[in-house]
Parts: sequence; C-alpha cells; structure tokens
Amino acid sequence: MKLRSTLNRACAVLAVGLSCASAAQAEDAAIKGDPQAARSKVSMCIGCHGIQGYKASFPEVYHVPKIAGQNAEYIVTALQDYATGARTFPSMEAIAQSLSPQDMADLAAYYSSLK
Ligand code: HEC
Repeated sequence: MKLRSTLNRACAVLAVGLSCASAAQAEDAAIKGDPQAARSKVSMCIGCHGIQGYKASFPEVYHVPKIAGQNAEYIVTALQDYATGARTFPSMEAIAQSLSPQDMADLAAYYSSLK
C-alpha cells in the first residue's frame, strides 16, 4: 500500500515534469533566426538560389526567385507554405519539408541580411 502511493506520487512528479518541458517548447514558438547558424545550412539552397551573396543562379535553366535581401518573415512564410503544401513547387516542397522551424528561421535571418 505504502509503496503504491509512493509510486503514484513519483508518476505525478514525472507527469508534471513532462508537461513543463512541453510548455517550455511552446514558449519557443517565436523562434529567433541566427544568420551564423544558417551558414552550414545554405549549402542546400546555393545550387538554385545563387552562391552566397549572389542574387541569381542559372536563370537559363529556369526562373528562380531572388531570396537574398528578401524580408525574413516572407521567407519563413514561403518555406512553411511549401512544407504544408499551401504553396506547391516540387523541389521546394521536398526541401522545406526537411527543414526544422529553427532551420527556416536561421535561413530567413541569413538571406534577409544579404543585400
Ligand atoms: C532545386 C532548386 C532549388 C533549391 C535547392 C532551393 N530552391 Fe527555393 N525555390 C526554387 C524555385 C524554382 C522557386 C520558385 C518556386 C515557385 O514558383 O513557387 C523557389 C522558391 C523559394 C522561395 C520563395 C521565394 C519567393 O519569392 O516567393 C523561398 C523563400 C526559397 N525558395 C527558399 C529556399 C531555401 C531557404 C532553400 C535552401 C534550404 C532553397 N530555397 C532551395 C528552387 C530551389
């Protein structure tokens, strides 16, 4: 009997601990982008959106929008829209789905900081 109530209490503590963890994650919802952290991630984008600092690449293959200097919120929204399928373009959908919210924020911070 005694052991059982001790166990129950332990579970309650554990459950509180878990819900604390998810509350902390929710607070992170407004993720801050870090342009430095994006430097290791842009290699995925450079082939199509231009070499670091360049604005266009391979316009002769197909039109790729210029994202350097674009507004950060616009970039995050565009990536989220590709990830959810609200906006469709095969290659961008595949890439956006592979990005975490933090990746999107970092890439947006990086590209918006380019002139
Ligand atoms: C395979 C080529 C390719 C790669 C790789 C690629 N993109 Fe794109 N991206 C495109 C094309 C083409 C479009 C335009 C699609 C459309 O018309 O919706 C686009 C559109 C976008 C847009 C929307 C731009 C606008 O003006 O609305 C953003 C933002 C973007 N890409 C970000 C990225 C990021 C960040 C990466 C790297 C993680 C990346 N892309 C990798 C080809 C690519």
